[in-house]
Amino acid sequence: MQNYVIALANQKGGVGKTTTAINLAACLAERRQRVLLIDLDPQANATSGLGLAPQPGNSMYEVLLGHGKLADKIQATRMERLSIVPSEVDLAGAEIDIARVDRYLHRFKESLDPLLALKQFDYVLVDCPPSLGILTMNVLTAVQSVLIPLQCEYYALEGLSVMTRLINQVKQSGANPDLELEGIVMTMYDPRTNLAQQVASEVRQHFGDKVYDTMIPRNIRISEAPSHGLPVVMYDEKSTGAESYRLFAKEFLKRCKTRDEAPAPTVTAAPPSAAQTPAEGASTGLPG
Ligand SMILES: Nc1ncnc2c1ncn2[C@@H]1O[C@H](COP(=O)(O)OP(=O)(O)O)[C@@H](O)[C@H]1O
Ligand SMILES: [Mg+2]
Repeated sequence: MQNYVIALANQKGGVGKTTTAINLAACLAERRQRVLLIDLDPQANATSGLGLAPQPGNSMYEVLLGHGKLADKIQATRMERLSIVPSEVDLAGAEIDIARVDRYLHRFKESLDPLLALKQFDYVLVDCPPSLGILTMNVLTAVQSVLIPLQCEYYALEGLSVMTRLINQVKQSGANPDLELEGIVMTMYDPRTNLAQQVASEVRQHFGDKVYDTMIPRNIRISEAPSHGLPVVMYDEKSTGAESYRLFAKEFLKRCKTRDEAPAPTVTAAPPSAAQTPAEGASTGLPG
């Protein structure tokens, strides 16, 4: 069984990366996939959101610096088939400490590869910090693809073009020639607002089938679940939030399988050009 290794990244904070990481991971586990979630954000929201207290020594920090094995950092969660490598506040120092070691952009890949060789997991999801620093660059160098959670707000397209340009740069630099845009999932979607509808339709225009059909609505149960240390499918399994993440996971799995059956590499969608981006603002008819 092949491991899929996918980063959840977006340089903006508060767009739903961690929420999507936790809930996609949980829904994949519900669908009988063996899932590992690696929390690489020093804020440790994925860790606490799955009911674990961030503890010194439990994160990937030492492994990234060449001490110990990633496999030894894996912990079980309350959900069957869902494991986690937790984060802790020490990871904040990793940005600086990794910069001092050899091959500093490859530390994550070199930590991950021995674990992948064991084929213990079907999906490895990596929750990235809200920045494009050394930790995120390490992840982009190691993963197969990037899943971008996107909040339908005014500067969404600009933010997206930063991410897609970065993916192309990482590919072209040779650091990770096979890196792909896995897809874009719209989060906290509120169909009652014109802005959300307009942004969603513009994102679809630019990125076509890279955008998932499923959109995650704003839902109170989704935001409450982490304070109970549970994914929404365990916190309130019949809620709209749980249902929408289940649908998303189904679509996500289907796309992964379709790609496996058609081995030709898909091309990363081109970012909107600099000239196009301001026009997006103009077309929403709102002040910039
Ligand atoms: N679909 C949603 N409905 C309601 N609240 C949400 C939803 N998705 C995320 N949130 C809330 O928005 C905030 C930011 O989400 P988070 O996943 O932590 O973003 P990021 O990891 O990108 O910083 C959190 O408080 C989270 O609970
Ligand atoms: Mg987060």
